[in-house]
Amino acid sequence: MTEAYREAYSKKTAKSRELWLKLASLTPYGVHSNWRIFDPHPIMVSRARGSRIWDVDGNEYIDFNMGFGALVVGHANPVLLEKVKQKLDDGTVYGHETELSYKLSEVLTRRYGYDMVRFSNTGAEATLLAIRLARAVTGRSKLLKFEGHYHGSHELLMVGVKPDLKHAGHPKKPRSVPTGYPYNVVPRELAENVIVAPWNDAEATEDIMRIHGNEIAAIILEPVAMNMGVVPGKKDFVVLLRKLANEYNCLLIFDEVKTSGMWYRGAQDYFGVKADIITVAKAIGGGFPFSAVLTSKDILGLVGPRKVPHGGTFNANPLSVYAAYVTLTELLTESNLSYTHKLSEELAKGYRDLIQDKGLEAHVVQIANKGTIYFAKEEINTWRDFVIKINWGLWYVWTLGMVTKGIIPQPMAVDEQWTVSIMHTKEDLQKTMETADGILSEIKGKLVESIAIEEAI
Ligand SMILES: Cc1ncc(COP(=O)(O)O)c(C=O)c1O
Repeated sequence: MTEAYREAYSKKTAKSRELWLKLASLTPYGVHSNWRIFDPHPIMVSRARGSRIWDVDGNEYIDFNMGFGALVVGHANPVLLEKVKQKLDDGTVYGHETELSYKLSEVLTRRYGYDMVRFSNTGAEATLLAIRLARAVTGRSKLLKFEGHYHGSHELLMVGVKPDLKHAGHPKKPRSVPTGYPYNVVPRELAENVIVAPWNDAEATEDIMRIHGNEIAAIILEPVAMNMGVVPGKKDFVVLLRKLANEYNCLLIFDEVKTSGMWYRGAQDYFGVKADIITVAKAIGGGFPFSAVLTSKDILGLVGPRKVPHGGTFNANPLSVYAAYVTLTELLTESNLSYTHKLSEELAKGYRDLIQDKGLEAHVVQIANKGTIYFAKEEINTWRDFVIKINWGLWYVWTLGMVTKGIIPQPMAVDEQWTVSIMHTKEDLQKTMETADGILSEIKGKLVESIAIEEAI
């Protein structure tokens, strides 16, 4: 079954393969970001508009990848593009601030409820600054993060991200496994500063804080863990983290790189928990590289010469700033976001009905404009569940099958989730359900190649 699906995919995307092979001779795996690796080859894209994307073979897809969540506004959103096109004539990067830097700072601080903000371009840059601030404020070096959470491709937090269970230690007391281990990518001294706890496990996290709490500068988390599908923090657990941060005098950092585009005021509003620092990015830039750190004046006031370093040639570039300004003020409005939630709920319901109808061992987790199908009977709460309980072989044929039939159900990566944009329509959902019906009927009960998580990530 797997081989037949792989063949059908390869046949349909022959030009993608040809081009990808040329690229693969010049860059590892033929991709410029590891998250895009896909076997037998990824699709190579030529253009995109609204909810649709086209590959170099001319195939059209309904896209629920949406630039790994960066496009809640949809591809080539006409309102945004029209405005940004006009701005292009004014230049692309100044090395100076602009009036719009001020206006966007005002929009962001009001929207998310903080005194001050600093801009950068990527999520990784934002979490890097957040950690520097936490260390400067507390004078402490250690960090507490959760197993399976991802905060960007920098050494400070590339620990316990997707650890091989052979090295990961006891589930209640995970080891600080550096990414790339056994290669010395993240030096041991850095990794030892990062204490790893199991997600959504109150007792284990309290125990770990009892041992390390007085050395911890910050607890950092994805309030909805979305680098292992979709694992929302349990409300009580997120409240507990706020309590623990207060008790041990450390900061609480919400990495809202993904969640800032889910709710109007982000995850802190959804959970009713105020973090000391939040990092926002991806969707709020409307598809342009933009990120920001928001916090109090006391904390962000530590940035400056001979204090906390922060800089970047492209920070506050006028195109990203304008795109974020238009995105936040005109496109990611409360009503538009609630539209994406409704469609996302419908998508989840459609998948759930099909799964039930076919008696498949799978379930759907959906929250706001995100969601995923887990090919597992049991609930997925932690990285360990994610690795052990899911039938990855089934996930793989499902993805191949859907893509071959013109639907990209989520980024073609195991740990991701769908994004519903403001440009998706009910017709998109209907077509998705018809296709899913066919694929799920075909794969039900069939023998699929088993795939270990190491091969899939
Ligand atoms: C929660 C979270 N934080 C940080 C990042 C890093 O963002 P970027 O890829 O823009 O550096 C990501 C990327 O997916 C993410 O999901």
